[in-house]
Amino acid sequence: MTHPPKKRVFSGIQPTGNLHIGNYLGAIKNWAQEQHKYHNVFCIVDLHALTLPQDPAELYRSIRQVAMLYLACGLDLEHCAIFVQSHIPAHAELTWLLNCVTPLGWLERMTQYKDKSAKQESVSTGLLDYPVLMAADIILYDTHYVPVGEDQKQHVELTRDIAIRFNNLYGETFVVPDVLIPKAGARVMGLDDPTAKMSKSIDKQGHALRLLDPPNVLKKSIMRATTDSLNRIAFDPVEQPGVFNLLNIYQAITGQSEAQILAEFSGGGYGNLKKRVAEAVVATLEPIQQRYHEMAQDPGYIEQVLQAGADRVRPIAERRLLVAQKNLGLRK
Ligand code: TYM
Repeated sequence: MTHPPKKRVFSGIQPTGNLHIGNYLGAIKNWAQEQHKYHNVFCIVDLHALTLPQDPAELYRSIRQVAMLYLACGLDLEHCAIFVQSHIPAHAELTWLLNCVTPLGWLERMTQYKDKSAKQESVSTGLLDYPVLMAADIILYDTHYVPVGEDQKQHVELTRDIAIRFNNLYGETFVVPDVLIPKAGARVMGLDDPTAKMSKSIDKQGHALRLLDPPNVLKKSIMRATTDSLNRIAFDPVEQPGVFNLLNIYQAITGQSEAQILAEFSGGGYGNLKKRVAEAVVATLEPIQQRYHEMAQDPGYIEQVLQAGADRVRPIAERRLLVAQKNLGLRK
């Protein structure tokens, strides 16, 4: 029996601060779980990080940390190439080509741009152009699937629009990708405020469950999570966003159905729910932390992985860029 060729997956994370359980459950866990089915390209998107001010030494450290966490979370180099975005100049070059076919109005409508720019006194051109760089990341690798959390859905839809527009204007050039969003864990909320998305950039204690937080810190944040006074265990994001968030985290970790989870927790109080969620989170993150800390003993290792990753993906990116250049009339 012949098997159809494997399709390509591409995704990435910004090296801006400490990765948290939302990044894991919304993205990396699913990458690792499905990696055998696809050719996978996972990027550390350092050029995206530059759209907001960064400390250079911290950025450099954070790039390595994200790469080590990818591996510690179970990405296997047999199935995945892991590389740093800025190591492949084709990303920036294709962004320019795509800029020239992307109407400004498409970018001004992006909700992340509106949210982020509202918080800044002055906004860089890069922040507005962010989704075009993301589109370049994706379509440079003939990507079929983009597994991300809910907050990136709009950006992947824009990527599709840009690819389709380019193909219509200049002939078939790019694969039009589809987004993959997990059923549970696609939008993990802050433990301190379950109406706001858990975010790397919020440093407040008790907000995020960071992948490298020690077990006692994780437990404390979960035990203190904001809930409500209804004293009812139900998947109700509107009336009970705090309880819903804890159940959603538990569901994404255990893979159980809502009915199974409700049966497990019905009759118990919020204290019991929090305790079980804390146990599940610690049991998931402890082995990841152990692998991370072992890997961090040898800083040369991750450099080698990133170099090999860039070498592996460069020909794919260069080939697609050349097709785009030819179709635009820049090359013969
Ligand atoms: P970033 O770095 O903000 O987030 C990385 C991944 O984590 C997911 N995520 C969440 N999932 C569930 N709950 C949350 N609270 C949560 N917070 C973040 C994100 O959806 C994402 O999957 N623009 C992207 C990076 C990027 C990219 C790409 C992604 C650049 N180029 C190409 C895919 C393909 C971003 O800022 O992700």
